[in-house]
Amino acid sequence: MHVTFRVPAKINIVLSIGPLRPDGFHDLATVFHAVSLYDNVTARWGDEEPRNDDDPRSEDEAGGDAAPGDRDHVSLTLDGPYSGRLPADGTNLAVRAVHTLAAAAGVPARAHLRVTKAIPVAAGLAGGSADAAGALLACNALWGLGWTVERLAGLAATLGSDVPFSLVGGTAVGTGRGEKLDPLVVPGALHWVLAVADGELSTPAVYRRLDELREAGAAAGPPASGTLALGSLAAGTGPDTVSVDASVLGALAAGDASEVGRLMRNDMQAAAVDLRPSLAQTLSAGREAGALGGIVSGSGPTCVFLAQDAAHSRMIVQALEDSGTCRATEVVVGPVTPSQS
Ligand code: C5P
Repeated sequence: MHVTFRVPAKINIVLSIGPLRPDGFHDLATVFHAVSLYDNVTARWGDEEPRNDDDPRSEDEAGGDAAPGDRDHVSLTLDGPYSGRLPADGTNLAVRAVHTLAAAAGVPARAHLRVTKAIPVAAGLAGGSADAAGALLACNALWGLGWTVERLAGLAATLGSDVPFSLVGGTAVGTGRGEKLDPLVVPGALHWVLAVADGELSTPAVYRRLDELREAGAAAGPPASGTLALGSLAAGTGPDTVSVDASVLGALAAGDASEVGRLMRNDMQAAAVDLRPSLAQTLSAGREAGALGGIVSGSGPTCVFLAQDAAHSRMIVQALEDSGTCRATEVVVGPVTPSQS
């Protein structure tokens, strides 16, 4: 028996970052949006697919210090266009997700995972979170646990701030450190072009650079402390310091792509462009091609452009390719959700 889930990449249509919290995270307020670029995660009982010793991207991982005779056994095979730079051992977030779910459910961690990566790594698209979400969904089904997505989401938050959203997809307002979600209904499809950059950006490094730029007065700071935004109270972290503008929510609910494009913004963009100045050229190329909006996605370095329709997406792709300012382009639509295949 095996179970496969395809799990989408995410972009952030707006992303406001608050101050650094005592726990090392930043409060944020964002609109997450899942788009049609997917990793596939398959889970099967390990003994159905023996380890392939000739495959360099295939590794056994027996729960770190698992003793012989332990019933835990997790292994991972990576393939697909973006599998090359990822560890296939116990540090991979998908493997950690399997162990976390097994421990929480009180069952042995037994699975062989295959992750087929079409989502670029460390690109601001939550590819690692997608893999962790896929592993949770697939093992939940393989092991017959019957956990609801809401119950899985509680566990997902311990794996990473974006993992709860990767489990549900669609469009959602995210607050806290990104783990608190309020779904949004968006009528119809939005058409996007992703400009995939050469190389990666580390999310913590981009957050650190943003703090430094703010400290130096070179990037707009978080709202003055004491500002109370509408929103829920994060347990133990005080009132939310940032919120999503109502005008963005209105534009999304109305399916008004031009207005959504005009309102797209990302507080992390200044830091990502500071670390990777060539992103400024990518952003200019997409905007000159008439994109309704164009920003860095999450912590970057992927840039995301909103198009009027599929034909307009192709025009933007052509302009980006002609500009020679990115490594690859992807035409995607959103919102989409994870699904079992
Ligand atoms: O939650 P996740 O593992 O994706 O976070 C990676 C790192 O990004 C954190 O250790 C933290 O440095 C930074 N981060 C943050 N504020 C957030 C989310 C992530 O500072 N809301």
